[in-house]
Amino acid sequence: MKQRLISLFLILLLFIVQARARHDSIKLELLHRHAPQLNHGKPPPHGRLKDLIHHDFIRHQWREETRRGRRRSNANVAVEMPLGAGRDFGIGQYVTTLKVGTPSQKFRLIVDTGSDLTWINCRYRCGLGDDCSEHRRINKKRVFHAYQSSSFSPVACFSQTCTVELSYLFSLTACPTPVTPCAYDYRYADGSSAMGIFANESVTVGLSNGRMTKISNVLIGCSDTFQGPTLQNVDGIMGLGNSKYSFATKVAEKMGGKFSYCLVNHLSHINVSSYLIFGSSNDQIEVSGNARSTKLELNSEVSSFYAVNVLGISIGGEMLDIPSQVWDMTQGGGTILDSGTSLTFLTDPAYRPVMEAIEKSISKYQRVNLDGVPMEYCFNSTDFDETLVPKLIFHFADGARFEPHWDSYVIEAADGVRCIGFLPARFPGTSVIGNIMQQNYLWEFDLERNKLGFAPSACGNS
Ligand SMILES: *[C@@H]1O[C@H](CO)[C@@H](O)[C@H](O)[C@H]1NC(C)=O
Ligand SMILES: *[C@@H]1O[C@H](CO)[C@@H](O)[C@H](O)[C@H]1NC(C)=O
Ligand SMILES: *[C@@H]1O[C@H](CO)[C@@H](O)[C@H](O)[C@H]1NC(C)=O
Repeated sequence: MKQRLISLFLILLLFIVQARARHDSIKLELLHRHAPQLNHGKPPPHGRLKDLIHHDFIRHQWREETRRGRRRSNANVAVEMPLGAGRDFGIGQYVTTLKVGTPSQKFRLIVDTGSDLTWINCRYRCGLGDDCSEHRRINKKRVFHAYQSSSFSPVACFSQTCTVELSYLFSLTACPTPVTPCAYDYRYADGSSAMGIFANESVTVGLSNGRMTKISNVLIGCSDTFQGPTLQNVDGIMGLGNSKYSFATKVAEKMGGKFSYCLVNHLSHINVSSYLIFGSSNDQIEVSGNARSTKLELNSEVSSFYAVNVLGISIGGEMLDIPSQVWDMTQGGGTILDSGTSLTFLTDPAYRPVMEAIEKSISKYQRVNLDGVPMEYCFNSTDFDETLVPKLIFHFADGARFEPHWDSYVIEAADGVRCIGFLPARFPGTSVIGNIMQQNYLWEFDLERNKLGFAPSACGNS
């Protein structure tokens, strides 16, 4: 989990219902929340990038804390987890909408494979003197009025679910009466937080056959308090981590054990959309002749993250000299794929050779320093010849190769400036394939067969 920031705009997401071949699947539309034209008071691109990187650093720090086991220790300790600076200006997130409750209300959520709790801005009871009319906004924000939903069923604080199973989601131990709902205090890496109660609730989702369906008993958080700049313009977060109570697990379970997404370019306009799909996306994966797959390491040391076994990285056809421990989870290394981190982190022994190899090829361009952008190598990209960028390939242990698009690792940081889009991380530590690296690929997470499928894709925008 972690947090993300949203710019000062509302990003409208629609459920898109679309007929697709044979299998039913659930299809949610994904839009990048940082579409440039949404920024009326727009910060310059490198300003955004700076914020994004700030976010990434904090997130990475948080992840390492998690890995050391602090997060799972117990509810109380977890609540006190150290969380870095109080701001999260991450901009690399994607958002979707979800209909919650009976009757249902629509909410805009950040989609995050790195978190497990799905929560929405919510009021559990209507207080004395409150205006409790349906759909009433509070502080101009959409609020789920839980007491008006007939399918809302709080988890009791004395239940084993609360005291044991939900402790990894930071359930609290306070339990004054048997009817008190199970509360949480969820802290994010950037100092943001969400507090509320856990409940089972129904969600309504569109199917690929054009119908809608209701899924009941989805664990959601009803947050009556949340803080943090990142949450200004969304109604909550959808947790897609690999754990028992995550939205991904629950919904994928009903849909053949899979979910997939395709992330449009992070600089795309708001009207360019892609999809988050629960169910089979085989049609798409098979259509592309370039489909690959590799083993997903679930239940690994890196908890509910989606880990993959990298064997090495080649640049311009040459395998780089990187110690194998870097990729080995049992030796303090390992690699995860994360939709909630924007840039790609490589631990030092991998970072150096990768940077050197890419730098060499573009050294004829004038180097520039972008204020506040910690990426080590940025250059003036006026008249840039992209054919100079050497092909970078992630080689997986089982033979599959992931070949990101060149502009996913030599990224546009500001007008006329590109940077090599990697950040260093300490070793031992986890390397992270961020969402910019993943863009314009379709990713399918098969939780039953422990398989990650991927294929280059325009994400439906041809
Ligand atoms: C919530 O749903 C689960 C099934 O997913 C069920 O086992 C549990 O009893 C439900 N709890 C409540 C409070 O409705
Ligand atoms: C999306 O919006 C941009 C900027 O407003 C516009 O240039 C582009 O044509 C739009 N694309 C589509 C498919 O509507
Ligand atoms: C890049 O170079 C061009 C031409 O040499 C110059 O006009 C421009 O200001 C430079 N841009 C940056 C960001 O340094």
